[in-house]
Amino acid sequence: MAVPTTRERWERDRLVATAYDLVVEREAPVRAAGKALWGCDTRELFRAIDRIGSAPPGTRVLDVPCGGGVALRGLRPGQDVDYVAADLSPTMLARAEAMARRRGVADRVRLEQVDIAALPFDDGAFDLVQSYNGLHCLAEPADALVELRRVLRPGGELRMTCVIAGVGVRQDAAIRTLRRLGIFGVVGTARDLEWWLRSAGFGAVTIRRTGALALVDAG
Ligand SMILES: C[S@@+](CC[C@H](N)C(=O)[O-])C[C@H]1O[C@@H](n2cnc3c(N)ncnc32)[C@H](O)[C@@H]1O
Repeated sequence: MAVPTTRERWERDRLVATAYDLVVEREAPVRAAGKALWGCDTRELFRAIDRIGSAPPGTRVLDVPCGGGVALRGLRPGQDVDYVAADLSPTMLARAEAMARRRGVADRVRLEQVDIAALPFDDGAFDLVQSYNGLHCLAEPADALVELRRVLRPGGELRMTCVIAGVGVRQDAAIRTLRRLGIFGVVGTARDLEWWLRSAGFGAVTIRRTGALALVDAG
């Protein structure tokens, strides 16, 4: 049987989407999985995500791919932000919608089914783009970063995390396996990532690393 492309896998495979999201929603299992698979400390990921709680009033936020809404954990009920949560997968969007309700932030969050490679938003439409754990799932990550830069206003900020290659033998083996399953797409090294970001037009780029997880701030 042919292995689906990463796009097909995420768009159609409800099992993979649900299984991933059930783990990522829970801090203890995700911490164990992050350590075992990527040698990373996922508390860094959650600290990065939670910064949305101090976004200034009126901030226009794009969260793509939002998955099941893990980044909504950083929002406060009633916080004055205009938040678009976008993903390719209908399963993930349904989970994100339920998560927004559970967290009491559904009135702030608009859900959109999108392909990150062709976002249906105007140039400069957002002050902040969040893209957690998605870049490594794409067949053309460099093109996606161009699209993320396009929808950010000048001076806007990208906050992103992704798995990177070249950190260790164990991590690279996991990347190869996930690529074979169509769950991961093209995974770059830290240098590739910096090159893709700069080529997309990001001038100020900071990349930190915990194990094979890169934490990016770029503007
Ligand atoms: C590993 S999950 C990460 C989701 C979430 N940000 C998180 O941290 O839990 C990857 C997500 O990328 C989405 N995805 C894959 N390809 C996509 C594409 N071309 N456009 C938009 N979303 C995509 C999947 O549906 C999935 O929700």
